[in-house]
Amino acid sequence: MQSSTRPEALPALILPRRELLALAALGSLAQLTRAGASPVPEEPQVLDFARFLELAVPRARELVGDTSGSGQDRYLHALAALASGLREVPQPQMRETTSKGASARTFLGVNECEAPFTVLHWRLDPGARIGLHPHLYGNVLTLCLEGEVRIQNFELVGERDFDTKESFRVRRSNDQQLLPGRMNLVNLEHGYVHGFCAGPAGARGLDLTTRLREKRSTPTLEVGAQALDEARGIFEGRWRQD
Ligand SMILES: [Fe+2]
Repeated sequence: MQSSTRPEALPALILPRRELLALAALGSLAQLTRAGASPVPEEPQVLDFARFLELAVPRARELVGDTSGSGQDRYLHALAALASGLREVPQPQMRETTSKGASARTFLGVNECEAPFTVLHWRLDPGARIGLHPHLYGNVLTLCLEGEVRIQNFELVGERDFDTKESFRVRRSNDQQLLPGRMNLVNLEHGYVHGFCAGPAGARGLDLTTRLREKRSTPTLEVGAQALDEARGIFEGRWRQD
């Protein structure tokens, strides 16, 4: 259909200056959108496990060499940026890993891959717990795939000694409810103790673990029920060598 509007009737000729400026701004916005610089955030790309590995393995190989605290942060955040789109991961065969005396069961399997990291696949029954333990040789990216799990991270205040029989002070660096698609990071230099407690529907997820140091025995952290300094998240801690 053809328009019969005459040029002198165009709104631009009769609109006040304020509206003209607004239209100009909209024009700039449209140009930005056409140029691919959309101001509206896009949903993250959903990846299947194979595609995630295609993208994550070369990136991990590139970054894994810097084992400093900031290097590990870059590495873990780079993996997290890709894992944010990861939803469907095949469940491998899992073995039961329930702790002695625990009433709710825990299960662990491995999604095999050629990568700088191992992909541990865990499943927790409702209310199941994995006790607080320090990571002494491998950093971790935890991704929740299903259900809900509370994760707490701690780190020692002052000098680190993982063999002492004396009590010491620990800082709670994180206390997080992990829902599907959300992540928790364990850097060997900070927040390196973590523990899990599954919600009422249980939980399932992945731990991408990257070994950076020699393997050694890992104690369990016991934390006092009452904070020594609530505002700063400081508690008394003690190692239990199992
Ligand atoms: Fe762990």
